[in-house]
Amino acid sequence: MSSSLMASLTPVSQSKLLFCNTPLKTSPPRMSSSLPSPNFGFNSGRKLRLEAPSSRISRMHMRAFVVSATTAEKPRKKYPGEAKGFVEEMRFVAMKLHTRDQAKEGEKEVKEPQERPVAKWEPTVEGYLKFLVDSKLVYDTLERIVHKASVPYYAEFRNTGLERSERLTKDLEWFKEQGYTIPEPSEPGLTYARCLEELSEKDPQAFICHFYNVYFAHSAGGRMIGRKVAEMLLDKKELEFYKWDGDLSQLLQNVREKLNKVAEGWTREEKNHCLEETEKSFKYSGDILRLILS
Ligand code: HEM
Repeated sequence: MSSSLMASLTPVSQSKLLFCNTPLKTSPPRMSSSLPSPNFGFNSGRKLRLEAPSSRISRMHMRAFVVSATTAEKPRKKYPGEAKGFVEEMRFVAMKLHTRDQAKEGEKEVKEPQERPVAKWEPTVEGYLKFLVDSKLVYDTLERIVHKASVPYYAEFRNTGLERSERLTKDLEWFKEQGYTIPEPSEPGLTYARCLEELSEKDPQAFICHFYNVYFAHSAGGRMIGRKVAEMLLDKKELEFYKWDGDLSQLLQNVREKLNKVAEGWTREEKNHCLEETEKSFKYSGDILRLILS
């Protein structure tokens, strides 16, 4: 097996020394080199061949994707969610990476402790604190990146109302007042923060995938987890992490619109590349989530 293939099969957790943009098990769907991009030869009158996508995500996303074999006139089928905008495509891929218990569209098998039903979790306050500290590092990093905006369109994602960093600062202060010692950030948070920094400079499509997944996951499953853990450990105290100023669904909708606009400027290959980053986003966030159970 070639070393690059080996690397592409190495899960992130077992490969701390690899760059964070090393594929998990995925690689972008490729077209034959002679083919025009990004419209898959639509109107080109040429025979079109799409190489079998090597990743599960690509296969899953492209299941509904049929390329006209001979005719130039037939428009290609749309990717799942495409008609509604690119966020819907990202959501489609993300939902399949949930387990069936987590979400009804989920297809993933339970393999990791944090993938077991939340109702069966046995969290600890110490573990939850580690999760909050590492989550804060991730939000600090995301919020610093969009503030700096080394890629101009990152600036669109400043002051969305979804920011979590300041709220987590308040929550950690509360825990301190309760007599808990706040731990230093640990490996999962440090690794993810480094990865986000690197992607934000070198791979904007991948960065945007992480940005979407982190903020939207927190507004969905994250809130549910927060409620359950608060019931189990904190006498139902609702942390600031789970509160937003204003109407959360409107804030999310505003960000969806901005993400859709940004993706309108991407080629189909860039969009596919963004979608294929979803699995890594689940991996990194899952490693942080697992801290709750430590
Ligand atoms: C225990 C872990 C998790 C649980 C219980 C969970 C649960 C859920 C639920 C219930 C939804 C809403 C489904 C719906 O709208 O019908 C959701 C949405 C979503 N989740 Fe998760 N999830 C978990 C982990 C994750 C992780 C690790 C990620 C990625 C980092 C993620 C990304 C998303 C995204 C992007 C959405 C769509 C949100 C939206 O459309 O507004 N989830 N999740």
